[in-house]
Parts: sequence; C-alpha cells; structure tokens
Amino acid sequence: MAVGQRFERGVNVTGAAEAVRESEATTVEPLSQEDVALSHMAAEPDLLVRLENVTVRYGKGPSATEALSPTTLSVPKGDFIALVGPSGCGKSTLLKLASELLSPTSGQIVFPECRHGEASIKVGMAFQSSTLLPWLTIRDNVMLPLKIVRPFRQHYRAKRKGEFRDRVDALLEQVGLLDFADKNPWQLSGGMMQRANLCRALVHEPDLLLLDEPFGALDQFTREELWSTLQDLWLARKATVLLVTHDLREAGYLANRICVMSARPGRILEDRTIAFRRPREIDITFSSDFVTLIQDLRGLIMHQPRGLNDDD
Ligand SMILES: Nc1ncnc2c1ncn2[C@@H]1O[C@H](COP(=O)(O)OP(=O)(O)O)[C@@H](O)[C@H]1O
Ligand SMILES: [Mg+2]
Repeated sequence: MAVGQRFERGVNVTGAAEAVRESEATTVEPLSQEDVALSHMAAEPDLLVRLENVTVRYGKGPSATEALSPTTLSVPKGDFIALVGPSGCGKSTLLKLASELLSPTSGQIVFPECRHGEASIKVGMAFQSSTLLPWLTIRDNVMLPLKIVRPFRQHYRAKRKGEFRDRVDALLEQVGLLDFADKNPWQLSGGMMQRANLCRALVHEPDLLLLDEPFGALDQFTREELWSTLQDLWLARKATVLLVTHDLREAGYLANRICVMSARPGRILEDRTIAFRRPREIDITFSSDFVTLIQDLRGLIMHQPRGLNDDD
C-alpha cells in the first residue's frame, strides 16, 4: 500500500543513515530533500500533507516578488488550521501550494499517502465570492464536482445520478438549504450562497478543504451563523481544513491551530494550539480566555516591522 511504501522508505532512509555512521563509510549519496521529509513523516503517521521549507517567488529578475520565506507546515488528517497575517503575506499562496495549483520555487510538498506519478489528494475549495453558476439550480451547482472529479465522473456517467442527488440533498439539508435546492443562486441571500458554496466544496468528500476568506463579504451576524454551520460540517465529516481569514475571532472560534504569518515575504511566526471545547458556541468569543487570545494574536500581527506589507 502507498502509505506503507512511503513510510517504509522513510524508515529505511533513517536506518541507512545510521548504518553509514556505524561503518564510517566514505562514499554515500547525500539524503535528498524528499528523503529527509519522508523521515520526518515516519514520526508523524497521521499526516495528510507537509510543506517542507517551501518558498515562492512570483516572476523573475528585479521585478520578482518574494511572497514566501522558507516555511514548513504539517497538516495532520482531520485538523482545522487557520492562517492569519497581514494582507499580502502569502496566505493564499500557501493554499495554492497545498492544492498543487502552484509549485514552490524551492522546498517541497509531500503527500505521504500518494505514490509517485499518481493523482494526489482530493481538494475542495471555497472563496469569498461564491462562484456558483447563475444558470444552474443550487442542487446542480452542488452536484457539479461529482460530474467533474474522478472517480465520481465515471459513476455519474454510469447513471448513478439518483444516488448523487441523495448525497447532495443530504448536504443541503444539513445546512438548511434543502427547500432552496431548485432555486438559482441569484434567488438566495449572500449567506445562503456561501452555505451552498461550502456544500459544493465538500460534496466529493475532499481530503483537504481549502477556504480562502469564505465569509469575508458577509455581515457579522450572517458570518457567525456560518461559523456554526462550518463547525457542524467539520465535526460531522471530519474533513481536514486550511482556512485563511482576516477575522481573528473567526480563527479562534473555528480552528484547532492558528498559524500567524509575518509580513511579506511571509513565514509562520507562531503556531498556536486552540483548546476551547467543541462544539463551540458564540458565547465563548466573549470569555476572557478568548479575548486574551485575540489580543495576543492581534499584537503579533500589528507589532511586525512596517514597510514590508503591500497594503501599508
Ligand atoms: N500571480 C502573482 N504574480 C505576482 N505576484 C503575486 C501573484 N500572486 C500573489 N502575488 C504577490 O505575492 C504576495 C502574496 O500574495 P497572497 O498569497 O495573495 O497574499 P495574502 O493572501 O496573504 O493576501 C503579494 O505581494 C502579492 O501581490
Ligand atoms: Mg489572499
């Protein structure tokens, strides 16, 4: 099995290094970056993806933008990680790396359970703008990944539409949208569209859910409702989530870990574990522990050297 092979390889690498030390052999191939990453992962068996010393530079020459300093991030299965930091610090860039939409300039991204040459993990994404197709009903919008993503598209063609419709309707019911399944997106409020958007990102049961400021355009009350919806979906489906947000309360309410990034070129300044009990209610955001957490995070972001942030 893929996992075994990759971990075995990691273990062998470590073993080989020890053997070499013992025999003081002189001609040894140095460990590749990938081998080093694999040996790290042997110690982290529930890892979904590891970004290992990744950097990103957009463009070439003097006009190039250094978006990301060397950054390492381990994403265990089932975790909920929020990325926060000043505008332009590379948060969306990190999501693009994790989804393999973008290759790092240096460093590497390792998916321990994927064999070389095989399609890697399934990813679901949702952004600030809902990107629902206006000419499709909500049900058909949510169904879309099942028509496109392997292996679902083969099954879709093999006339398993009824089964897929049940799956979509179960998701819509979970977020309170089943009565709106036959409406078009323009007949829904902004909050409802984002609920549908979350359903579409989850319908193909992705290994990794990437959310880039998904609630950024919503008013405060709708946003808080959506936090609760997202928490329920995460608790029920045990997805692995990477969430980019500007809203520190949102990060504190939703995440198990908050990674605070420095101004561009970004790197992770602090990786904070958030231990509030689940399911979390909005009331926790008024507790003194929560308020202290938000003040700490705000302090970390605000007290960075100025002049590097694009938006200053
Ligand atoms: N395709 C691109 N080409 C050139 N520069 C880019 C590109 N995408 C992002 N950048 C730059 O890289 C930096 C990080 O961008 P991004 O990851 O979008 O930041 P964030 O999501 O934290 O606001 C910014 O300075 C941005 O202008
Ligand atoms: Mg961004």
